[in-house]
Amino acid sequence: MSTETHRELTEEGVEARVGELLGQERFAPPAAFAEGAEITDPELRAKAAEDPVAYWEEQAGKLRWSTPWETALNETDAPFYRWFEGGRVNVSDNCLDRHVEAGNGDRVAYHWHGEEGETRDVTYAQLLEQTARFAGALRELGVQEGDVVGIYLPMIPEVAVAMLACTRIGAVHNVVFGGFSATSVAERMEVSGAKVLVTADGGRRKGKTAPVKPEVDKHFADLDGLQKIVVVKNAGNDVAMQDGRDVWFHEVLDAADPVDPVPLDAEAPMFILYSSGSTAKPKGIQHTTGGYLTGATTSLRQVFDLKPESDVYWCSADVGWITGHSYIVYGPLANGITSVMYEGAPDYPHKGIWWELIEQRKVTKFYTAPTAIRAAMKWGVGHVSGRDLSSLKLLGSVGEPINPKAWLWYWHVVGGERCPVVDTWWQTETGSIVITTLPGVDDAKPGSAGTPLPGYEVKVLDADKGTEVASGEGLLAIPRPWPSMLRTLYQDPDRYRSTYFDRWEKGAAGGEQIPYFVGDSARIDDDGYIWVIGRVDDVINVSGHRLSTAEVESAIVAHPHVAEAAVVAKADDLTGQAIVAYVTLQGDTESTDEVKAEIDAEIADRIGKLARPKRIVWTQDLPKTRSGKIMRRLLRDIAEERDLGDVTTLADPTVVESLQDRWREGA
Ligand code: WT7
Repeated sequence: MSTETHRELTEEGVEARVGELLGQERFAPPAAFAEGAEITDPELRAKAAEDPVAYWEEQAGKLRWSTPWETALNETDAPFYRWFEGGRVNVSDNCLDRHVEAGNGDRVAYHWHGEEGETRDVTYAQLLEQTARFAGALRELGVQEGDVVGIYLPMIPEVAVAMLACTRIGAVHNVVFGGFSATSVAERMEVSGAKVLVTADGGRRKGKTAPVKPEVDKHFADLDGLQKIVVVKNAGNDVAMQDGRDVWFHEVLDAADPVDPVPLDAEAPMFILYSSGSTAKPKGIQHTTGGYLTGATTSLRQVFDLKPESDVYWCSADVGWITGHSYIVYGPLANGITSVMYEGAPDYPHKGIWWELIEQRKVTKFYTAPTAIRAAMKWGVGHVSGRDLSSLKLLGSVGEPINPKAWLWYWHVVGGERCPVVDTWWQTETGSIVITTLPGVDDAKPGSAGTPLPGYEVKVLDADKGTEVASGEGLLAIPRPWPSMLRTLYQDPDRYRSTYFDRWEKGAAGGEQIPYFVGDSARIDDDGYIWVIGRVDDVINVSGHRLSTAEVESAIVAHPHVAEAAVVAKADDLTGQAIVAYVTLQGDTESTDEVKAEIDAEIADRIGKLARPKRIVWTQDLPKTRSGKIMRRLLRDIAEERDLGDVTTLADPTVVESLQDRWREGA
């Protein structure tokens, strides 16, 4: 039965409709949505632009500060900017205590859904109680203000408790995505000097249990600085607890006294999140308290048009990425809304689980990634058809450019052509959304993220001259500082400066400072809409996950029989980009399936399964310049089957021909 709410959809019907809409350039906010939207003032951007610092002060003022700031923006030490200097604020106070004191303690913070169908509702009052106690427990374990606490947990409410507890006492969290290997966790704990690690006995994934703690044990035996490991009993698998080092989460929680939020300096470090850059060494992106919270809170409220009383919001990301930090934990909680938190994979226990959960929880705002939408398209509309998705009011996308076909599928199939789709551009470094469309005001153009949010300025600069491109292609730049920007790279201020502030001169792009170098190329159209093209550095975006070619290469060359490796990205229908590795083996080592499996295992161990190449091409030689530099551009051209253009700078031009042959043989 097809009704307005339980729409029956067929593949042919959807294809025809999407095909029809492909020609439509703009999508105005649906009238019913626009009528009820919070932001309807088309002049908001222009007003904020008159005095951006004052605008940000107004936004920050919506949070609860224990001491007001004296200086809104201090630029004397640029690019080491300081926001809301002199102010004191606590993140967990704003996310929890404030709402409970306002009488909203019984509101559900998270409707948690486990993989096997279990559910747990956690209210704001419960989350506060647990956070306050765990903060006390961390203190008793020796954690002091400024100390680093590692967090390596699955998608369970305890991850929010652990993060919030850190912010309550001014500890700096360093969350590592659960899909990364224990080796990479150990490395990140070591370089950040973590004192305590919070992890779980095991993680559940598609009906299996991943032995998280046993893996951690293998790699943490000789980590000097790490004093304690707190273990959440989650999967119920057998784990060994090391005397004097390991403690159970529930035991320390029960034993601890709750602690009050500590008023922290606005610029107190809040968290570090490692992200891939151009080298094999991940960058410890460091965010601070007041500015970050201002950015995350304001952006979610504006872009998702939040209605705390009635919204049920769901961001399908993992908490181990910046999207999870800003839009599963801090943004939603600071705004006092109810979220869904889902433990599992999008295709477990079945490929319609997301739509089932949206129907069951009456989700109003849904935020996911283009790769997930493309996977749903591939699995077929049958998994969506007949579901009641009429509760949905708005859909968001993040992580990579969303191709118009996927955008339209999302709009038509999921949103029933009633819900604005916001394509949100931002980065780990920006802390919160920077470019998108205001859903009650702006037209969306599928494929373009939109224009900068109020309070931001984003420009496209000519790659060579650094002059502004009014319409056309260039490099993205953010000329002025913004509150939720990274403050530095952990213990590496020089790399912070050279990565982000070395590209242009002071005052390029018309501002007073050196523009922030984003690392993306983009096109700006005549309406000022920005169309992000992709990274210009050696960063690969696989399913919205950022990986560095250098990191993958160094994992491959760790194999004893590998002589050399070069890794490039290739466009992929499902994951956006896929990894292709060109590998030269030593001497007479044969390129067997066994060697391939060993290389895959090495990468899974060092980085995580997500970094395994989609294809390995064995080769005797790599294309190099006469000075020995590998020409990755040619390797990309080969993988994308393009004409190679100029190869005269190669030391040995025949190398590329044989590589092209090899590529085709395997294709
Ligand atoms: C890079 C940042 C932001 C959280 C997830 C990724 C790409 C991100 C979009 C978008 C086009 C996008 C950019 C950016 N990116 N969102 N809506 N349209 N590209 O965070 O791992 O720090 O990666 O992701 O290339 O620089 P991240």
